[in-house]
Amino acid sequence: MTKTQAARPVADLTPAEAKAELARLAPLIAEHDRRYYADSAPILSDAGYDALRRRNDAIEARFPEFRRADSPSLRVGAAPAQGFAKVTHGEPMLSLQNAFTGEDVRDFMARVRRFLAGLIHLERDQPIEVMGEAKIDGLSISLRYERGKLVLAATRGDGHAGEDVTHNIRTVAEIPHAIGGGVPAILEVRGEIYMRHQDFFALNQAREQAEEPPFANPRNAAAGSLRQLDWRITAARQLGFFAYALGQTSEPVAATHQGLLERLGAWRFPVNPLARLCKDVDDMLAFHAAMGAARAELGYDIDGVVYKVNRLDWQEQLGQVSRAPRWALAHKFAAEQAETRIADIAIQVGRTGALTPVAILEPINVGGVVVQRATLHNEDEIQRKDIRVSDTVIVQRAGDVIPQIVSVVLARRPPGSAPYGFPAICPVCGSRAVRAIDPVTGAPDAARRCTGGLICPAQAKERLRHFVSRDAFDIEGLGRKHIDAFTEDKLIATPGDVFRLHGKSKEIAEREGWGPQSVANLTAAIEARRTITLDRFIHALGISQVGQATARLLAREYGTLDEWVRAMRDAADPAGDAYRRLVGIDQIGPAVAADLIQFFAEPHNLEVVEDLTREVRVQSTAQRPPATASPIAGKTVVFTGNLARVTRTAAKTGAEALGAKVSESVSKKTDYVVVGADPGSKAEKAKMLGVAILSEAEWLDLIGRP
Ligand code: IVH
Repeated sequence: MTKTQAARPVADLTPAEAKAELARLAPLIAEHDRRYYADSAPILSDAGYDALRRRNDAIEARFPEFRRADSPSLRVGAAPAQGFAKVTHGEPMLSLQNAFTGEDVRDFMARVRRFLAGLIHLERDQPIEVMGEAKIDGLSISLRYERGKLVLAATRGDGHAGEDVTHNIRTVAEIPHAIGGGVPAILEVRGEIYMRHQDFFALNQAREQAEEPPFANPRNAAAGSLRQLDWRITAARQLGFFAYALGQTSEPVAATHQGLLERLGAWRFPVNPLARLCKDVDDMLAFHAAMGAARAELGYDIDGVVYKVNRLDWQEQLGQVSRAPRWALAHKFAAEQAETRIADIAIQVGRTGALTPVAILEPINVGGVVVQRATLHNEDEIQRKDIRVSDTVIVQRAGDVIPQIVSVVLARRPPGSAPYGFPAICPVCGSRAVRAIDPVTGAPDAARRCTGGLICPAQAKERLRHFVSRDAFDIEGLGRKHIDAFTEDKLIATPGDVFRLHGKSKEIAEREGWGPQSVANLTAAIEARRTITLDRFIHALGISQVGQATARLLAREYGTLDEWVRAMRDAADPAGDAYRRLVGIDQIGPAVAADLIQFFAEPHNLEVVEDLTREVRVQSTAQRPPATASPIAGKTVVFTGNLARVTRTAAKTGAEALGAKVSESVSKKTDYVVVGADPGSKAEKAKMLGVAILSEAEWLDLIGRP
């Protein structure tokens, strides 16, 4: 009935084929959804439909980067209006007893044997097989399938009731929406949602760029990503899943835990391959040791192993004590802590200018990994823990990722040590480093930031990329790649250098991928931008919080570069007129004002602006006259037809500069319609509505132009 039977196996698809196939499936599935839900007239069997969705899911699982915005896997009903609904689990979600030593494990097995022997006949030396599994460090989830369809996904919550996160779980590519092949009518699959290290690092990097606080570890990142009210946010994060247990089922699915894992795998749930059937405690401890050794290389966090009695009938008989099964045990890895000394505290400057302190440690082996650096997060963290150079500290590898300092061993602090003084100067460029104050809450930003954005080598690439970008200087042919290469090779360091690149034509032409012609093109593109409007110039400087719209407001208010720079410097006096004028601009508040003032308080930035003005010509902007000065201030004007003396665009800009609102359509609210030659329907409409109609000459007269 469908083409899927004949379609190529997902495993054989090339990336291009996969992309094309997803493009074919999205509208196709949408069409079947519409027939099914809207028309109640499906033309495809349930099995055929499920096959399409499964194929789509499988391709997305293999190529998550190709998941389309209109992917069927993202399409779900309406999200709950507020928070998450509470839902009761079909069977409670239990927790596990913990063990930390081999002795604990022996005790556990002895307990299991004693308990079973009291219920059934057990030979003295009869083996009790146990499955050892990796203990994934994520958050547990319960997936409820009814007749093979995913109907509910819930977090653990208090074990009896959790939160309904179905919408979000549907965006996790690895979780099937429908399963087939001898599935019980009711099936609750339990497992762990987690985040791989690479996705965790990428997410944190993106958050840092967006100036959002990073997640401390992959588990927090996974939990934070799942507990999003907007499922689109979850969809944008890469979450993984491993199935490892069942909750409620309407019929038995296997005789052993090993058999259960196999069935889960056959239903296309990801099952962690790190599992081993153990015959005795020695086997179990060997498995624990092997996992401990392998853990650093896995690419995701595990925090121990879980042992589960393999026979499910025995599990049943063993039952549970106070919310933990008697048949399972979590054998945690030893806390990964060690003691060492802080040799120094280094300051790293990130691409956005944030100063991050890093402890340089005397190298120490922490749980099998040599650690030489530990993050100190920020200034407040150092102060809170009173961390000093030469202190002896406890270092911990948190979730296998970034080593952290847990505490200072005060007893071993050398006499005469002093609290750490956080630098107020950027160690890379020597500019002042400041903590922005939130003008509303009065709280300082967690990060101290370098104010030398334009000259700071640590931030140079980022700033220069912005400087030449489309909405800034718009230099064609000078892309990210070139900016990176040119800054690395010291051909450019500051914005002014871009306009002096022509002096380095020879050097550039000799570079790989360049020749005389491409250099000539680049030079021409740069020359074409030697004249720039004031708003673009302001925007190009990349001042924090000063985007395109704010740059336009500033250009309109101050008109010329000189006037603007003078005003920004004068605005440093909060009691002065310049400050009042700045914050008096509609849509510019104290926070933006503070960033502007900060920028001009840094002498390096002034130098950059001065250097740049020697290279480029900044056009002045028509200033906004006082609101009452023009008869058209505040009026709504529509232009139509061909004007003779100015272009329509120029007429519009001129009208706006005089404080008028220019609109494209005529309504009762329109004050004037200015009519050129060959006017269209707008003039008709104006007549009908009785709006004032002006000829071009009358218009120029009105605004006082000869
Ligand atoms: S079995 C009734 N197996 O560890 C048994 N749990 O510390 C239910 N976990 O809440 C759990 N990997 O979130 C099981 N292979 C695994 C696991 C695992 C991680 C988590 C799970 C549980 C927690 C208990």
